[in-house]
Amino acid sequence: MKTVAVVLAAGLGTRMKSRLPKVLHPVLGDPSLLWVLRSLPTGLGAALVVVHHGKEEVLKALEAWKTAGLLPCEVTAVDQGEPLGTGHALQVCVPELDRLGAGRVVILSGDVPLTRPGTVARLCASEAVILAMDLEDAGAYGRVLQQADGSLQAIVEFKDADPAQRAVKRVNGGAYALPYAPLKEALAGLSNANAQKEYYLTDAVVAVARTQKVAVELADPLELLGMNSRQDQAELQSIARDRINAAWMAEGVSFLIPHSSLVGPRVSLARDVMVETGVKIEGACAIGEGCRLGQGSVIEDSVLGDAVDVRPYSVIERARVGAGAKVGPFARLREGTDLAEQVHVGNFVETKKTRMGRGAKANHLAYLGDAEVGEGSNIGAGVITCNYDGVSKHMTRIGKRVFVGSDSQLVAPLSIGDDAMIAAGSTVTKDVPSEALVLSRTPQTNKEQMATRLREKQRQARSKG
Ligand code: UD1
Ligand code: CA
Repeated sequence: MKTVAVVLAAGLGTRMKSRLPKVLHPVLGDPSLLWVLRSLPTGLGAALVVVHHGKEEVLKALEAWKTAGLLPCEVTAVDQGEPLGTGHALQVCVPELDRLGAGRVVILSGDVPLTRPGTVARLCASEAVILAMDLEDAGAYGRVLQQADGSLQAIVEFKDADPAQRAVKRVNGGAYALPYAPLKEALAGLSNANAQKEYYLTDAVVAVARTQKVAVELADPLELLGMNSRQDQAELQSIARDRINAAWMAEGVSFLIPHSSLVGPRVSLARDVMVETGVKIEGACAIGEGCRLGQGSVIEDSVLGDAVDVRPYSVIERARVGAGAKVGPFARLREGTDLAEQVHVGNFVETKKTRMGRGAKANHLAYLGDAEVGEGSNIGAGVITCNYDGVSKHMTRIGKRVFVGSDSQLVAPLSIGDDAMIAAGSTVTKDVPSEALVLSRTPQTNKEQMATRLREKQRQARSKG
């Protein structure tokens, strides 16, 4: 039987007080909706995402995730038009569910990001079930009432509940698996005669429960928390952080102070990685065995080989770093940086779209943009590639074992052959053949006794004035 997931994501999220649609707000760098879609099992027929508020942005995000290969199945957006409630959100999906030949529907909320893939997989394999949780403070959640045999009897929204119902601590988690045929029939019969004048999905679920047993499955409340406010978002963030860091520790990763560092859901850390304090790793990252991620470093969408030493306060974005390389402290590797094994990039060095060959070094204060640095070359302090002429960007190609003296400017487009030497302070504007020495600075003149005479003059001027 074909199972189709429906993810509700049309709500405004008023309490977030944001320009950004609620479901695009991130938890550890990944938007809530992406967490939900990525929790779906790969074997699923298809998924529908019900959109409305912030539709353009959500559609753009869906497209980007699809292109990046982040979605486990075919995902189609359905515009709710006017959001008239969770039941209405399902009603607008009926034509698409018919077209897909859905046999069973699994319903999730785009603002409930931390349901574990295992829980979602169980839901997808269930006949008819709702996920519930027991809360000490049940807040505004819908209250779940059960039959004597434990199956679902009713869900009463908080605003429609009487005091006795409000005292119930078992609440609706908003995740369901239901056979499509009776659900479709129930959706057709929904009314909005309730406290919020909305078409409630919960009424349809209860209608299905009148014709067949719907099980109530208790889940960990930490998996079903919704993001309705910034406070919720912060709480979800710390729950996700604790869960992810604990899982990596169990795999042999060390955290100096686990709660101080944030590791996103698409990051992989090999054994013996040491994460110091205040580290943030987001997006798709793979960190090799024995790497040290120094205090305050930020790593996004990057791949680090084994035993890379990232010293404190370095920023690495969309870069590759080879095994045994040393980066920082205070280095900035920007997009398209590709460092081979054993490269050293030291303090206050910025690289962008730059490849450095094995063992090459740029240890202090340099800018390398649109450049290639051959293996074993040394880039001195204060060297910059002048890659931009105000209109376009140009390449600088530096061969192997080249020595670039301190404070040199390499004006691109430029090629420097293997084993060349650039004397300190040179402005290099012409290609340099292999093994050549470049000197382009003004020759030095020493004027004997001139400093002393100058000082004498200054003193006399001061005593007159
Ligand atoms: C819903 C449930 C409640 C449950 C809670 C769990 C109903 C009537 N109530 O309440 O029993 O305890 O979830 O989190 O279903 N949405 C749409 N279109 C709409 C309205 C909402 O797509 O017209 C989306 C929202 O963006 C959100 C999800 O549906 O992702 C849930 O809607 P929300 O308004 O947050 O429902 P709750 O009042 O929290
Ligand atoms: Ca909600």
